[in-house]
Amino acid sequence: MSKLANDDPATDLHAVPAAGPAPLVRPASVALVGFGTVGQAVARILCESPHPELRLHAVCNRQIEKKKVDWVPDEVKWSDRLDDALAPDVDIVVELMGGLEPAGWLIRRALESGRSVVTANKQLVAYHGGELAEIAARCGQHLRFEAAVGAGIPLVRAIEDGLAGDRLFTIAGILNGTCNFILTRMEESGTPFDVALAEAQQLGIAEADPAEDIDGSDARAKLAILASVAFGCHPRPQEIDCRSIARVENTDFRYASRLHSTIRQVAWARRDRESGRLAAAVRPMLVSSRSALARVEGSDNLLTVEGEFGGLTGFLGKGAGGAATAVAVVSDLLSIVRGVPARHSIRASQIPADCSVSGDFTAPQYIRFNVDDRPGIIAAIATAFSKYDISIDAILQEPGYQRTRLPFVVTLDSCRTSVVEAALQDVEALDFNVQRPLHLPILVSNVR
Ligand SMILES: NC(=O)c1ccc[n+]([C@@H]2O[C@H](COP(=O)([O-])OP(=O)(O)OC[C@H]3O[C@@H](n4cnc5c(N)ncnc54)[C@H](OP(=O)(O)O)[C@@H]3O)[C@@H](O)[C@H]2O)c1
Repeated sequence: MSKLANDDPATDLHAVPAAGPAPLVRPASVALVGFGTVGQAVARILCESPHPELRLHAVCNRQIEKKKVDWVPDEVKWSDRLDDALAPDVDIVVELMGGLEPAGWLIRRALESGRSVVTANKQLVAYHGGELAEIAARCGQHLRFEAAVGAGIPLVRAIEDGLAGDRLFTIAGILNGTCNFILTRMEESGTPFDVALAEAQQLGIAEADPAEDIDGSDARAKLAILASVAFGCHPRPQEIDCRSIARVENTDFRYASRLHSTIRQVAWARRDRESGRLAAAVRPMLVSSRSALARVEGSDNLLTVEGEFGGLTGFLGKGAGGAATAVAVVSDLLSIVRGVPARHSIRASQIPADCSVSGDFTAPQYIRFNVDDRPGIIAAIATAFSKYDISIDAILQEPGYQRTRLPFVVTLDSCRTSVVEAALQDVEALDFNVQRPLHLPILVSNVR
């Protein structure tokens, strides 16, 4: 029986929702597992703000003695045993440890023992969300994960509810605040990549180990979840093409600006209306200076969603940070106790078996070369591209660089990214290159 069900139907003041447990008629008892950046911010809200429907019951974390703070009321139980989050008097478990395990174990146990779960764990939801949502549905519980995607921006609910009437086909966004901070610093002040990264770390915007942000796997997990919520097609995250921003240099911003563009780490997915096939990628791309993506500053995030009937809709806000993420977690808790029906939109059984995803899409392309200058380079590059039926659109060269390490840019007419990459393998082998060319697709609204 559901932990949240009212024992006496005669006194149940609320209608039972279509899915998930009935709303509570007493404050829901919440166990918080993981008392780090987000966990502490959630505890602050639960301890300080007037949400009478919620009561912080327990805080669980390893080495709990080191975690105790004096602003949590005395009646809250502190524990370093995860099992204590599954005590009989706990209604909802909030998982904020991160990582695949033991977070996955805890969530399965919580759902199977009749508790709803709120989590901010993007990797776990991206890799195992379908299975976990299946368990939640089977056990009549909620699995909420709003904070896992947009942190402070309520994207899941906006898509599941606010845009339910549309048929969505494209999502494009800036889903990693660390990358956006670094790229906007490089753009604004010519700060080198390594310096901008160090600044992000000093400001607490980047982790000590920023690999998941920089290489795109953080945004990729979010994109995988969004694709399933928006398109009902849950791609395996590891199948989404994902490229690092680490090879972007200040020179690229100079060239991008000549093309009336800038560079952003873009998470992009499109569901083909006819075939149902999904193309998705997370990679640095050129975006028009006039686009909403270009105007996202610092660590903010933006998601744009395109639907067949409603056109383009955008969502902007804080994509990271303890307080903003905690608001999403507490909002999920409130929606559970208020009886908002669970959607389970990422249930494995509702997702078509064939959810193959391709990283290949058609777009104009930007290639930056660094060469040891000599006659015949452009002719050699043009010949290599023409073998793949790729047409050069423009060649740009800024003055003021050494001839032994000369950067210049070639833009290509719209073509498939896979074909450009094949051609680049030939071009890279030419001996005038002093560095591997950087290839960035140019995001235009009609990217296919
Ligand atoms: N921070 C953000 O802006 C943000 C935004 C959106 C989503 N999220 C997600 O929210 C979750 C938490 O992130 P966070 O930034 O709060 O991380 P964090 O600061 O590292 O906090 C994690 C907490 O969980 C504890 N913990 C980790 N593994 C544990 C285990 N096996 N047993 C018991 N306790 C364990 C850690 O203890 P120790 O202190 O001993 O390591 C730490 O207190 C992650 O899934 C993250 O992806 C974070």
